[in-house]
Amino acid sequence: MVSSRSSVLLLIATQLLSLLPTSSASVLSRTDDQPPRPIEREVLGSATSPSIRKRASGYTNPADNGGYMLTIVNGTYPAGLGEPLNVILSADSDKEVLVKSTDKGGFLNYMLVAGLGEECLGQHLGSIQEANLGDSQGNVSEVEELRYNYGNPYIGTCQETFNGGLHLRYWIQNTTNAYFLAVSVEMDLNSGHDIVRNGYNIGRDQLVSNLTGTNIVTEDLTNTSTFSGTGTYMNYTYQTDVQYVPGLLKNSSDDINHYITVEENGQPAIDGLVAVLTVKITGRPPSSGAWSTISQIPLISIFMPLLLTSVFTLF
Ligand SMILES: *[C@@H]1O[C@H](CO)[C@@H](O)[C@H](O)[C@H]1NC(C)=O
Ligand SMILES: *[C@@H]1O[C@H](CO)[C@@H](O)[C@H](O)[C@H]1NC(C)=O
Ligand SMILES: *[C@@H]1O[C@H](CO)[C@@H](O)[C@H](O)[C@H]1NC(C)=O
Ligand SMILES: *[C@@H]1O[C@H](CO)[C@@H](O)[C@H](O)[C@H]1NC(C)=O
Ligand SMILES: *[C@@H]1O[C@H](CO)[C@@H](O)[C@H](O)[C@H]1NC(C)=O
Ligand SMILES: *[C@@H]1O[C@H](CO)[C@@H](O)[C@H](O)[C@H]1NC(C)=O
Ligand SMILES: *[C@@H]1O[C@H](CO)[C@@H](O)[C@H](O)[C@H]1NC(C)=O
Repeated sequence: MVSSRSSVLLLIATQLLSLLPTSSASVLSRTDDQPPRPIEREVLGSATSPSIRKRASGYTNPADNGGYMLTIVNGTYPAGLGEPLNVILSADSDKEVLVKSTDKGGFLNYMLVAGLGEECLGQHLGSIQEANLGDSQGNVSEVEELRYNYGNPYIGTCQETFNGGLHLRYWIQNTTNAYFLAVSVEMDLNSGHDIVRNGYNIGRDQLVSNLTGTNIVTEDLTNTSTFSGTGTYMNYTYQTDVQYVPGLLKNSSDDINHYITVEENGQPAIDGLVAVLTVKITGRPPSSGAWSTISQIPLISIFMPLLLTSVFTLF
């Protein structure tokens, strides 16, 4: 009798413990980020100074620690030109979005909201660029290049490779897990994949437009512009809050690759604004285990004391 009671107790305890890790892990991962998240600073960014904004936990300015907001391109003329890292996926986004995966609503699924996919049949046809994100990793090769798929997730990126269009290279900041994206609209393969006129600003804004379902007009942007909207892919819905942040890049053509062909109407090659995206998953496919990750946490905290009480009154 005693042994069967204790085995029941053991069984119940095991069940309870097996339920716990998901909830405690998600609580732990929150407290991992050392400073309390200064979300207000990001949201109220237009009212705060750039130096405060750059200390936000969502990303750090590479230049604060020996890095650059321009990529490192081999063999430019003159030497040392780069492409702007003009979009940042803030690490204040939901953790799932910061995972490089097409599964579970990860970064690659999020990019498919905007029709950007991994390259044509796994072939890398562009040249490799490097970046130094000021995270003590030095000059690091891009994680990969994503191209617009013309509405065809299977073979569409091949079309982009030949026709040109929206594409990006990205890197992950080791210290924060933020994603830094160099986005542009490029010409076709015959033109050597040069960048179209105003192609850095336009590429950034096409991406943000597609991710938020809004229509962003590049010429109307200011250093306080913000946007918000949702997009869905594979039944994952993403709420994207966008802030156009000045001060990370210069509003100039200095050191910008292809700057001569990119400048338009006497304006510099880039407007100096970086679109900082903070992304939350607000909808999931029914089968994605949403119950266990979302509903379970409050349920557990409600029922745990009840369960424990009933277990102990049993004996
Ligand atoms: C840059 O070019 C040099 C010489 O051609 C080559 O050795 C190096 O691997 C290239 N680096 C990248 C990142 O492509
Ligand atoms: C990293 O890139 C910068 C900028 O192009 C260059 O000056 C530096 O020499 C590179 N560092 C190494 C270790 O290759
Ligand atoms: C940071 O770099 C280390 C070693 O280079 C690597 O093991 C780790 O996965 C990186 N972390 C992130 C978040 O990129
Ligand atoms: C997404 O971007 C492409 C070009 O990059 C554009 O043709 C398409 O209309 C955009 N879709 C939406 C929904 O904004
Ligand atoms: C934003 O632009 C205005 C002029 O339009 C300028 O006065 C202000 O200093 C800029 N702010 C920042 C943070 O660059
Ligand atoms: C998305 O959800 C709908 C119904 O809610 C379902 O019919 C469809 O198969 C789902 N699609 C995917 C890709 O899971
Ligand atoms: C960038 O500078 C140009 C003048 O060179 C100015 O017309 C434009 O408004 C500036 N853009 C931003 C976003 O500050």
